[in-house]
Amino acid sequence: MWLRERCTSPASVQTATHQPLHQPCDFPPDLSIKRADLHEAASYASGSNKFLTVTFCDGHTSIFDAAVLDAEVDDFASYGIQQTDIKWPKLRCWDKSTGSDFFHTSYAAIMSGDPQKLLDLTSHLLADGHALVRGVPSRDMEVAAFARVVSGFPGGQVVRPTNWGPVFNVRSFPDAALKDLAYTADALPPHVDNPYRNPNPGFQLLHVLENECSSGESLAVDGFFAAEQLRAESPELFDMLRSTDVRWENDGGDRSTALVHWAPMLEVNQSSGVLTQVRYSPKSGGYCPALSMEEANLFYQARRRFSQLLNAEESTVRFQMVKGDLWIFNNLRVLHGRSSFNPQEGFRYLQGAYIDVDAVTSTYFRSKYKAQKMISDCDTA
Ligand SMILES: [Fe+2]
Repeated sequence: MWLRERCTSPASVQTATHQPLHQPCDFPPDLSIKRADLHEAASYASGSNKFLTVTFCDGHTSIFDAAVLDAEVDDFASYGIQQTDIKWPKLRCWDKSTGSDFFHTSYAAIMSGDPQKLLDLTSHLLADGHALVRGVPSRDMEVAAFARVVSGFPGGQVVRPTNWGPVFNVRSFPDAALKDLAYTADALPPHVDNPYRNPNPGFQLLHVLENECSSGESLAVDGFFAAEQLRAESPELFDMLRSTDVRWENDGGDRSTALVHWAPMLEVNQSSGVLTQVRYSPKSGGYCPALSMEEANLFYQARRRFSQLLNAEESTVRFQMVKGDLWIFNNLRVLHGRSSFNPQEGFRYLQGAYIDVDAVTSTYFRSKYKAQKMISDCDTA
């Protein structure tokens, strides 16, 4: 069945889209292989030249590119089946020593219309989890306008609204009447935003409209790096944070509503084990359910260690954001925070917005295909 569901012959799929035509119950429960042969031929898709021809017991014959099957077996999360040339950029986890010099680009480069520039930015967003764009005009709502550029979905409103509306304002006082620890001059330890939302907002864009303060350094922590450290130290503790749905809460900033979500601190692709999400924000709870004493002890041990790893100076990349900077980071992976600042020094005003992770993935593939087409058009010309 594993091979058969990958068959892309006209009897199995719609040829234009490679979308399967059959229901799982259409296949015999004892489907088996009558004959399989490996043979050589030219391959456009993978560059390899080994093909596997399989004849099934119901008489159907499929031909597979052996290298494509191999690649998928090795890395299930990264390969497409309906489109075999789909490949995500490989994840690069980082700490202070390897991640301090992270990717930055300019507003002018992104707005130039060159798909390679947008491809560079989105490649880094998917692989590293974050990037900095410099020279973004200091205009109210510019962050929402830029979010539309980074989102691959055409037209309409792309930002994910919150209680604060389409964008939120980070200053040293409450945003309108809505209160949060972020809207003070206090230090903010590393956290993800909105773990109490279902689903969680994906990428955050944070734009500095004004910063006259020399203090208030931003900080970034790769949650995947810390989670992998925990997994290497103790698979049991890692598994506790992966398998316990904890309770996240927020009152809307003014007790006008209740946003509650039950979800684990770590999420992985259940098939490949690859990390897909980190939730960590003490100010939003993460309350442990009433487990047995033994399980609860293990949970608190795991959370304590994970918290240590996330707050370690060796995990923390620090940088000063200046007026015109726009930091984009995957809120499902990269924790953010800041040191305290002195509001007497001057005005500090950031505006933020969220977009879905797959909006960025969509831009990655759109700009990749556009850039490839430009190269092939050039070659043809
Ligand atoms: Fe935050």
